Amino acid sequence: MRIGIIGAGAMARALGGGWVAAGHEVLVGARSADKAADAATAIGAAAGTLHEAAGFGEVVLLALPVAALDEVLRSVGEQLAGRTVIDCTNAFAPDTAAPQGTTAFVLTEDAVAERVAAGAPGARVVKAFNVCAAEIWASEARVFDERRLAVPLCGDDEAALRQVATLTEDLKLQPVSAGGLNRAKYLEAVSVFTVGLWFAGHDARAVFPPLEAAFATVD
Ligand SMILES: NC(=O)c1ccc[n+]([C@@H]2O[C@H](COP(=O)([O-])OP(=O)(O)OC[C@H]3O[C@@H](n4cnc5c(N)ncnc54)[C@H](OP(=O)(O)O)[C@@H]3O)[C@@H](O)[C@H]2O)c1
Repeated sequence: MRIGIIGAGAMARALGGGWVAAGHEVLVGARSADKAADAATAIGAAAGTLHEAAGFGEVVLLALPVAALDEVLRSVGEQLAGRTVIDCTNAFAPDTAAPQGTTAFVLTEDAVAERVAAGAPGARVVKAFNVCAAEIWASEARVFDERRLAVPLCGDDEAALRQVATLTEDLKLQPVSAGGLNRAKYLEAVSVFTVGLWFAGHDARAVFPPLEAAFATVD
């Protein structure tokens, strides 16, 4: 698959590196040519501009801070029509109400993926990869308690969801269909809540029973 990545930071490298290793053609586009080249060289991808990344891929990953989305979508949004757009963003800001000495975050907005879809008419937006840290996506060790790490996907376009599921499997991760784009806001909330648990030193997995012990089981 041809994958354009907009942004050249931690997520671009983590996910892009995995996709290059899986045999995909990846182009990293950034506003700084030097930073695009550095990231691309590090993962074995091609480098380019934001516009080149938007136009390169049948799949485009937005690996940007939420604060940059409006500006970037104003610039490249039209190019994204008809493409699968992966939104991995989180609208984190420090929780100023948290007790002193503790690190916690709140969301500055609660439905980023829906805003991305509104800013890129015709794009087939899928929320994915926003829950875990870039280090996890870059790591080879993602089987915990004998279960492969799962990646919830939210989106409205079946073909786009299949593409992102394939790209998830190519990273040796387990895709999980988690509903339409209207549910992406819950993935965004899961991320900020879970990261809060981790920063507080709690094992987030411990708060969820396995499927076989949950009250709602698949027949
Ligand atoms: N890192 C994680 O562990 C993690 C995990 C899950 C989700 N996420 C989410 O993924 C997204 C990307 O995170 P990241 O860690 O990859 O961020 P990052 O390392 O800070 O990289 C952000 C990239 O966005 C570019 N950028 C910033 N403002 C821009 C603008 N106005 N126009 C064009 N490019 C701009 C930066 O370019 P410059 O270098 O020129 O500023 C940089 O290439 C964020 O929304 C984050 O919440 C991150």
